[in-house]
This record gives sequence, C-alpha cells and structure tokens, in this order.
Amino acid sequence: MTILVTGGAGFIGSNFVLDWLATSSEPVVTLDALTYAGNLNNLKSLESDARHSFVRGSIGDTALVARLLRSHDVRAVINFAAESHVDRSISGPAPFFETNVMGTLGLLEAVRGYFAQRSDFRFLHVSTDEVYGTLERDEPAFAETNPYRPNSPYAASKASSDHLVRAYRETYGLPVLVTNCSNNYGPLQFPEKLIPLMIHNALAGKALPVYGDGLQVRDWLYVGDHCSALRRVLEAGSLGETYNVGGNNQKTNIEVVRALCALLDRKRPKADGTSYAGQITHVTDRPGHDRRYAIDACKIERELGWSPAEAFESGLEKTVDWYLANENWVADVTSGAYREWVARQYG
Ligand code: NAD
Ligand code: DAU
Repeated sequence: MTILVTGGAGFIGSNFVLDWLATSSEPVVTLDALTYAGNLNNLKSLESDARHSFVRGSIGDTALVARLLRSHDVRAVINFAAESHVDRSISGPAPFFETNVMGTLGLLEAVRGYFAQRSDFRFLHVSTDEVYGTLERDEPAFAETNPYRPNSPYAASKASSDHLVRAYRETYGLPVLVTNCSNNYGPLQFPEKLIPLMIHNALAGKALPVYGDGLQVRDWLYVGDHCSALRRVLEAGSLGETYNVGGNNQKTNIEVVRALCALLDRKRPKADGTSYAGQITHVTDRPGHDRRYAIDACKIERELGWSPAEAFESGLEKTVDWYLANENWVADVTSGAYREWVARQYG
C-alpha cells in the first residue's frame, strides 16, 4: 500500500512527506509539477530511501494520475498541489484557476475511475480558511458550518476546488475528507510568504514591507502540527466531513514582524547595533485584504482528539533558527540556477 502526495515538493507537502516517512513505513509517491514553489531539495534526504518515489507532473493530467494510482496500488491521495500565494493571484489569477480548479477536476476524474478498487481508499483535500472570507474583530472564529465567502482570486479558486470535492462525494460517492486550515509557518516555506520573506529581507538589509496598518490578524499554525492533524484526519476522519485546523495563535501582522525582529536581534545582531525593527516600512495595502482569520478547531479536537502542540513563541524561534541555518536553501529556491537544473532534468 502506498499514499500519493500531490504538491509534495512544496512547503506543507514536503514537510508532510518527511514527517510521514519518519513515522510510518508506508511508501509515498510524490507527484509535483515543480512550479517556482516546488523544490526537490526539500526531499533530498529521501534520495536513497526506497519507500519514496518522485514523479514530475500535473494533477490535471488524469491519465498520468490514473497510471500512478494503479501501478502503486494507492490507498490514499493527499492533495496539496495548488497555486498558493494570494498576491500572485491578484496580479495574475488564471494559473490559480488552471491548477486549483481544473487541476483538481483532473485529479478527481482519475480518482473516480479508481476508488472502487479499494474499499479503504481515501481522498484528502487540503484547503484553506480563506474560503470563509474575513472576520470582524469580535466575530467568532470560523467553524466548519460558516458560509463560503472567498474574497481573493486565490480564495475563490480554493473554494471552487472544495465544492468540486464535495460534488464528487455527493454525485459519485467518492470517499473524501476536506481540511481547511489557517496560516502555516515553519521550515521550507518559500520566501514570498510573510514570515520567511521578513527573515530574508531583514538579513539582506532590505525594507520589511508591512501592508497597510499591519493590524490584520492571522491565526498561525506550525507546519508540524498541521502534518499531525492531516495524519489524524486520514486515519480517523469521517468520510464526507470537513475539519478546520488551527493553531490558536491569533496575531496581528505587525506583532509577528516585531517578534521576528526581536529574535533576529538576539540571534544575528546587526553590526551597527541597531534593531531590525528599523527596517519595518508600511506600504500600500493588499487589494481586498482580509482583515482577520481565526479558526475554531473544536470539531477536530472533539471528534478526533487532535490539538496543536506548538506554542507560537517556540514555533517562531524554531523557524528563525531553521532559516538562519539554511540560508543556502533560500538562495537556491530563489536562484535561476535551480530552475535551469529542473528544466535540464525534466524538460
Ligand atoms: P506551495 O506553494 O509551497 O506548494 C505547492 C506545490 O504544488 C508546489 O510544490 C508546486 O510545484 C505544486 N504544484 C503546483 N501546481 C501543480 C500541479 N498542477 N500539479 C502538481 N503539482 C503542482 O503551497 P503550500 O503552502 O505548501 O500549500 C499546500 C496546500 O495547502 C495548498 O493547497 C494551499 O492552498 C493549502 N494551504 C496552505 C496554507 C499555508 O499557510 N501555506 C494554509 C492553508 C491551506
Ligand atoms: O489562511 C491560510 C492562507 O495563508 C493560505 O491559504 C495561503 O496559501 C497562504 O499563502 C496564507 O495566505 P496569506 O495571504 O494570509 O499569507 P501571506 O504570508 O501572504 O500574508 C500573511 C499576512 O501578512 C497577510 O495579512 C498579508 C501580510 N503581508 C504579507 C506579505 C507577503 C504583509 O504585510 N507584507 C508582505 O510582504
């Protein structure tokens, strides 16, 4: 038996694959298109691990996915593959709909032709709290019963994919599970997202661009906690159900950036003795910027006994330590040389 992890060379997917193979003997096939966000170096430690195989390809390639399902006798698919960055979806929405909607459709079609072969088959779709829209300061956190109100093209594309997954359950009886989680942070995150971008810019002596007043709230989830939640949902989740996953860490963006500056001041003091906080620069706000996200994770705790283990302070420190120890990783993923290597290797 094998699990198929799509988008497994990206941030959360690669953390999941590494975590899975560290805690289970069940083999993994990673399918990833290796877009700018996918990085094979994330899985380098598995190069000679016979339990892992990597295939470059798209989730939208139904014939390819169908072949993989059959040839590996796959018992579960965990779908991480997506275009994931909100700012990119604002400057160019089309790839978000190609991958997140049409890609998911192609993947579901492959699964539809396969799932009846295994009574224990599961399709776990990894989604986001952004589908629920935005919260006012005093509104209760997002529960699974909240209506969908996506505000960015990214969120709209993820909402569409969630609806497709639901429709395949209702129409064809696919054994699906859906998770909607809050902002992840931790090692191996591409330095376009808030936390790694701020660390990278701080060390490079660049401005730390805080959108608008910086008082937008995100509910931070350590990626290791997300991985354990997904394992639990796959193992014990009820088919057709949605589980919200969160870290119970609501913070304003400016709080997060200041905390990062304080950690860097301690761990990598600037030569001139000033604080990295001096690099903070308020810039024009993101269009349609959601003001607050917060996850009510009571259902997964009540029904599956899962709750996050990492405190924000310790998770942030681990993250900073990882980026300080892996500056080459950031240089690699942002360099043309790595992309050229992918092109040579895979065409
Ligand atoms: P990421 O951008 O780091 O990784 C996405 C991966 O998908 C990359 O490796 C990319 O190469 C791959 N990919 C893109 N298009 C593909 C295609 N057509 N076929 C196969 N692979 C393809 O994203 P991430 O932050 O790891 O997010 C993973 C999933 O979790 C996404 O579905 C995202 O919507 C969801 N999510 C992320 C967060 C977060 O905070 N990062 C929070 C909630 C939900
Ligand atoms: O909530 C889950 C979502 O979290 C995921 O579905 C997305 O895939 C993931 O990218 C993330 O979306 P956000 O837009 O919340 O993440 P991002 O890191 O881009 O931004 C976090 C907050 O920081 C947001 O309020 C915008 C702000 N920000 C971001 C960047 C990149 C800044 O102020 N400055 C920046 O330079």
